[in-house]
Amino acid sequence: LVLVVDFGAQYAQLIARRVREAKVYSEIVPHTMPVEQMLAKNPKAIILSGGPSSVYEPGAPALDPGIFAAETPVFGICYGFQAMALALGGDVANTGKREYGRTDVGVSDPGVLLAGLPATLRSWMSHGDEVVRAPEGFRVTASSPRATVAAFEAPERGLAGVQWHPEVMHSEHGQRILEHFLVDIAGCRQTWTMVNIVDEQVERIREQVGDARVICALSGGVDSSVAAALVQRAIGDQLTCVFVDHGLLRKDEAAQVERDYVAATDVNLKVVDAADQFLGHLAGVTDPEEKRKIIGREFIRTFEAAEIEILQTPGTPVRFLVQGTLYPDVVESGGGEGAANIKSHHNVGGLPEDLQFSLIEPLRTLFKDEVRQVGEQLGLPPAMVWRHPFPGPGLAIRIVGAVDAERLRIVREADAIAREELTAAGLDRDVWQFPVVLLGDVRSVGVQGDGRTYGHPIVLRPVSSEDAMTADWSRLPFELLERISTRITNEVPEVNRVVLDVTSKPPGTIEWE
Ligand code: XMP
Repeated sequence: LVLVVDFGAQYAQLIARRVREAKVYSEIVPHTMPVEQMLAKNPKAIILSGGPSSVYEPGAPALDPGIFAAETPVFGICYGFQAMALALGGDVANTGKREYGRTDVGVSDPGVLLAGLPATLRSWMSHGDEVVRAPEGFRVTASSPRATVAAFEAPERGLAGVQWHPEVMHSEHGQRILEHFLVDIAGCRQTWTMVNIVDEQVERIREQVGDARVICALSGGVDSSVAAALVQRAIGDQLTCVFVDHGLLRKDEAAQVERDYVAATDVNLKVVDAADQFLGHLAGVTDPEEKRKIIGREFIRTFEAAEIEILQTPGTPVRFLVQGTLYPDVVESGGGEGAANIKSHHNVGGLPEDLQFSLIEPLRTLFKDEVRQVGEQLGLPPAMVWRHPFPGPGLAIRIVGAVDAERLRIVREADAIAREELTAAGLDRDVWQFPVVLLGDVRSVGVQGDGRTYGHPIVLRPVSSEDAMTADWSRLPFELLERISTRITNEVPEVNRVVLDVTSKPPGTIEWE
């Protein structure tokens, strides 16, 4: 176990992921956790993350020097590097020389941390202060134009640090630097793999559940599918999955769950076709939040009705509910300060408060990419494992205006074409998500054949992102956009115009509603 101490930067999760990519298990802890508690977890090493711009800022998180007393190896990154320098008797100065973005770091003396790397490393920096003197006994191994001490180490004491961010993609050889610390300085063994996780979880679930029965709401998304498959692997028919088909899914998705997923997992599946019910309640509703609330409410109602049926079937008691909670959700709900409720996400906000089940959350320690690997390990269809995120309220929030069967058909056809062409271009994994939105209340004039048309626009919203918190619009090749546009206007008669959304997030959200 490697602990990543979060000093409030968005980088802590990325560091934890990179450590796991090095096949070493990692967890994130807040900097407010007392050092004794951190050490009680018996970590093999500790990594101090980046954080606010200055260790001298009022209210800047302090580093308890006690962390170094235990002789656990410590690696400091950016703010963590400066806090470490200060705690061990070095000097940090606010020189006013700021360094942001791409910077060339010159390796003067590779030591252990930078061994075998080129003399110049293109690296990602983000700092205002700088370490002007390394602590006693430390070797300075690199510098940059604005930081004379950009890396230092005392490997015999298990200590090292860098001013830049080796965890970000833009830093050359960042992964190797992390591995040098983990393996060569801290002596970690690289044994964390997805095979281990599956075995470990299967064991744990069996122990937790005993002979009780378990239910799971399957959405067709990656997380719930993998969570359910894992639980199925552990306890077989003691698990019943409920799939509420709200009629707002994309083309063929419901069939895929019923057919391919069951074929791959042999899971006990109860499908509830509730499309008419949802459409009935959504009729005439145009306000986005209102749509979300209706869908959330109907979803819970439908699921509870199915649950009651299962409770009434003879057998051992039903005591557990499976949830596809991921590690970022756990971290964010633990340290979720100031996260404004921008939209009510129904699968987070709408759980009944008097939940009479215990939760099974087999993916609680995993990142999305690890969940995908577990899914592959469990033999799930690639189309499911690599599916883009899709919102719980489905296509209802991709129709601007009221939702009805006709509009659903239009957006579903257009979406299927866009996805098909993206896949054919081999770009599925280059975009995070590709919402296709129907402007239901907007019409524009067009001409097709010899006639005037008065149809609806379709908006293409391909985005790239790391975590959906921020996003940028994807620069898809013009030829691909052209093919999508031509096919949609040819094959979906109600649509006579296709437009591209070129807004980043912020200010736009990924979805239109
Ligand atoms: P926004 O539109 O807020 O979306 O930028 C961020 C990510 O969340 C997804 N999303 C949802 N997922 N239930 C979900 O499960 C919801 O109600 C919901 N609303 C948005 C969205 O698709 C994107 O990935």
